[in-house]
Amino acid sequence: MTGPRHVAIIMDGNGRWATQRGRPRLFGHHAGARRVREIVEACPELGVDYLTIFAFSTENWKRTQAEVAGLMSLFRRYILRETKTLVANGVRVRFIGDRVRLDDSLVGMMDELERLTENNTSVHLTIAINYGGRDEVTRATKRLAEEVAAGRLDPETVDEETLPKFLDTCVLPDPDLVIRTSGEARISNFLLWQSAYSEYEFIDTLWPDFRADEFAKLCDAYGARDRRYGGLRA
Ligand code: IPE
Ligand code: IPE
Ligand code: MG
Repeated sequence: MTGPRHVAIIMDGNGRWATQRGRPRLFGHHAGARRVREIVEACPELGVDYLTIFAFSTENWKRTQAEVAGLMSLFRRYILRETKTLVANGVRVRFIGDRVRLDDSLVGMMDELERLTENNTSVHLTIAINYGGRDEVTRATKRLAEEVAAGRLDPETVDEETLPKFLDTCVLPDPDLVIRTSGEARISNFLLWQSAYSEYEFIDTLWPDFRADEFAKLCDAYGARDRRYGGLRA
């Protein structure tokens, strides 16, 4: 039985976790950000080479200005606080999503963390900020169309391998397992193209309560699944 090589996580439930404690939603987001380290550090032992986490969606701008601003400053704090540990642990960090709508100062810090960790190979941590699957496919299609218009790409050669080369995730394998915490059974625009054949786990735990032991159990359970990809049982 082999575990998942690439796990993607929709980290949901921070707001409800805070509300249950009579605290503001941002308190939950801070607790949620502190959970990430333990999960990243559990990856090598579980054989998880790629971990992709959904931090902020293209739809999350609909939240109050205070919550959005609080999340943006939390991303800055996360980068400042975690850089040393990520570098020491040999984690390679990448960001996916559209950076155009993010503050220049945050984008600068994201670029810097990517650069600082670009030679690392222990775990590939990808953080999705202002990420939406439809937005990503739309941006990719636009670039693909530009290649055709410029005469650099022949439409006759376009196949299922072409579009992924233009996606933010072009250097990553597809996720084997997608986990969503907090009991919601939907994908909320996450990795639409890439998760066409992923296995899913929807669990009730709220993200700030998600621990390495539960992560390990889900990775174990994945090993027992029979992935047929439309074919017959092996
Ligand atoms: C997930 O937690 C984090 C983000 C979407 C930024 P939520 O903030 O969605 O928490 P709930 O779903 O309201 O509990
Ligand atoms: C998905 O959670 C996005 C992130 C975890 C960053 P949401 O809480 O935004 O999704 P919906 O609104 O329940 O679909
Ligand atoms: Mg939510």
